[in-house]
Amino acid sequence: MKILVIGSGGREHALVWKIAQSMHVKKIYCAPGNAGIAQLAECVSISSDNISGLLEFACNNDIGLTVVGPEAPLVAGIVDEFQKAGLKIFGPAQNAARLEASKAFAKQVMLDQNVPTGHAAICLGIDEANEALSAIESFPVVIKADGLAAGKGVVICKDEETALETLTNMQVRKVFGNAGNTVVIEEFLEGEEASILVLTDGDEAIPLASSQDHKRVFDNDEGPNTGGMGAYSPAPVVTDELLRQVMDDVVYPVIRGMKAEGAPYHGILYAGIMVTKQGTKVLEFNVRFGDPETQAVLARLDSDLVEAMLWTIGEAKKPDLKWKGEASVCVVVASGGYPDDYKKGKVIDGLDKASKIKDVVVFHAGTKMSQVASAKSQVVTDGGRVLGVTALGKDIKAAIDNAYKAVSLIHFEGMHFRRDIGWRALKK
Ligand code: AMP
Ligand code: GLY
Repeated sequence: MKILVIGSGGREHALVWKIAQSMHVKKIYCAPGNAGIAQLAECVSISSDNISGLLEFACNNDIGLTVVGPEAPLVAGIVDEFQKAGLKIFGPAQNAARLEASKAFAKQVMLDQNVPTGHAAICLGIDEANEALSAIESFPVVIKADGLAAGKGVVICKDEETALETLTNMQVRKVFGNAGNTVVIEEFLEGEEASILVLTDGDEAIPLASSQDHKRVFDNDEGPNTGGMGAYSPAPVVTDELLRQVMDDVVYPVIRGMKAEGAPYHGILYAGIMVTKQGTKVLEFNVRFGDPETQAVLARLDSDLVEAMLWTIGEAKKPDLKWKGEASVCVVVASGGYPDDYKKGKVIDGLDKASKIKDVVVFHAGTKMSQVASAKSQVVTDGGRVLGVTALGKDIKAAIDNAYKAVSLIHFEGMHFRRDIGWRALKK
């Protein structure tokens, strides 16, 4: 069949790379894609939020399955639109995507289903928020804008002053637009984070290999939050026992709850968890694959991803996913200045050399082909996170060494990356 992948990041390159290995696939399109994806798929310049454009393309090109990478089109209802047109699409419908679209909704589902999560107050408007804040006795506290805020809507407030300032920013100055009208004020949880991704057909769930992201921009988890500077799989903090507990206490109750609500959940469900001394608690749900977790996780998958995706929409039998015994590490290479302002258009050297190392895949994120008429076209930077250099190794140490060996061959002006991806796993 022909497959359409929507998105343009490192996650989408990893999805396209894995989908290309499926025996069900004849041709892959990606909208809009990037320079790396273009080596495996035909890129079409339709942006990921242009739902009517994507629908028209899928109808006209005999697309057998559409795979949605980012959350925005899911939240905007792309799955509903495609299904109305009789097309097969991987991901949750709009009413189920509320698990990511609204932190207040997700919190309510967790409370209703007794899912372990931090104590929180859901506050509609500044008066309710101020009242909830005045009842708080100890800091830090976490304030979350209810709606999508491009990954910037969560603020850890060290004291009351910062909390008041944050509420003013979100609810009065409206720095996130309407996304901040409602806020969730949540207890600060201390511990180690991990990402648990499961595939689900609305009734049953299959966990993917565990992984851990590195959200802060600098080594030792310092500096501001980013979309993710690296990931590895498996995450030793996710023991078999912990995974069983998350499936029993989090995943299945949420899936059952969503179904009972009339919003059955299909696709990938991503639970961001914090392993605390008081037990494992859910920080958030995402309704899509993680980035860069997907690069690390799919590097280890030995089964047909398309078949597994088809199962989530009732089009294939339940798969038995097989994983490589090796560990994987993805090191994100970013533009100078990211996560703040950065320049684009820097020529990237060394991609071929790095890709030739055994067990290394260089996933592209913000890249494109330069349009220099006279010279040979080159790959140039086109975003904040530029590459996800991903490597396998017999253990986490070997995977880390392999990934950094590949990174050392790559160069572009201003590039930066963390040198300590995987440190928590090494420490164990
Ligand atoms: P979220 O989008 O809710 O996952 O939040 C983004 C990041 O903020 C998480 O990955 C955590 O690093 C951090 N965070 C969110 N909620 C909490 C919490 N209750 N306690 C501590 N850190 C949190
Ligand atoms: N890596 C975090 C996310 O995808 O949300």
